[in-house]
Amino acid sequence: MIKTIEQLENLNGKKVLVRVDFNVPLKNGEIRDDNRIVQALPTIKYLLSHGARVILFSHLGKIKHKETPDVIAEQMKKNNMAPVAKRLGELLNLNVHFVDVTRGDKLIAGVNALKDGEVLLMQNTRYEKGEEKNDTELSSIWASLADIYVMDAFGSAHRAHASTYGVPEILKKEGKPVAMGYLVEKEVKNLNRCVFVDEKDRPYVAILGGLKVSDKIKVIDSLLKKCDKILIGGAMAYTFLKALEKNIGTSPCELDQLDYARRCYEGSRGRIVLPCDSVVTDKFEGWTEKLVTDGNNIPDGFEGMDIGPKTIDHFTKELSNAKMIFWNGPMGVFEQTDFQAGTRAICEAIAKLNNCFSVCGGGDSAAAIKEFGYTDKFSHVSTGGGASLEMIENDGKLPGIVILEE
Ligand code: 3PG
Repeated sequence: MIKTIEQLENLNGKKVLVRVDFNVPLKNGEIRDDNRIVQALPTIKYLLSHGARVILFSHLGKIKHKETPDVIAEQMKKNNMAPVAKRLGELLNLNVHFVDVTRGDKLIAGVNALKDGEVLLMQNTRYEKGEEKNDTELSSIWASLADIYVMDAFGSAHRAHASTYGVPEILKKEGKPVAMGYLVEKEVKNLNRCVFVDEKDRPYVAILGGLKVSDKIKVIDSLLKKCDKILIGGAMAYTFLKALEKNIGTSPCELDQLDYARRCYEGSRGRIVLPCDSVVTDKFEGWTEKLVTDGNNIPDGFEGMDIGPKTIDHFTKELSNAKMIFWNGPMGVFEQTDFQAGTRAICEAIAKLNNCFSVCGGGDSAAAIKEFGYTDKFSHVSTGGGASLEMIENDGKLPGIVILEE
């Protein structure tokens, strides 16, 4: 059993350490999408309104500690949490105490100065090289700040890092309460429905896209045990098409996955559905010629950029009677207007369905749904790309959530 925050008793005056996922896209210090901060607000507001002293911590971007000191300093500058603290303050309409370190006297003083109902955000957890190694000393330092631990970083729950695993492990041993926040609770409930399938949710159709088959092998294998159909688009479809001896021109293809793709397709006995035409260009960058193929026969020197109109019709038909849909990965290069049609059509097809439970597994497809204005048409859009795929792959078990079990 995992406690929810509403099951935590006597929050008033307690120091509650909350792991959030504030790994938001930044450009020149500007937040380009604050969704992950917005999604963490219900938990933060609940704790504040119950008089807790809230200490937030999160990673932001990647910091490669094996690089030279200059490169590390540059990465730290780029991934400084300060803009996130500012945005959080605006969203909460509160003063967020930002502490620009991850340990030491300044952090301890900041935590000790917190009053009931106040919130502090510490610097990026990945400034510490022990974070990704789940270092015990680092975990103890962070655990010592807290009376209670709350996990609300669904997007990071597939990482067994110090902040997501080591800290709750120590606090549990000390007999201190650990719980999941509202966001984790919501994500787990919705994604578990796609993992443990109820007959009323059939036909269950998955849509997979994106670049690499190798990244999705475990998820395809898992979905084949659960779904009635898997529609495959995006660049990864070309590895499958090549395995079936179609002409794919210069489209991306993982030659070392051809055997897997062939076995997987044949073993699916018609449940894997591949594109039957493509929008192709003579080059990826700076293309001058664009055409729609007739069937799966891409001319030499051309590469696939999107699914074609016949595939759109076919996929739309496959989706039309679905009772549950799980989608991860765009159908084409949706960042460019010329190659958006496939991904947009999937959004439209899902938006038209009544009585269908539709889940988008985060990442690029969530960005596309947002850009095209369809977020509200989905039953659930996950905040975790990698985490939602691992939920499917590992039958609902993520280390950052499993460790919360009593
Ligand atoms: C994400 O953006 O998927 C999560 O925040 C995890 O980030 P990571 O892949 O850098 O661990």
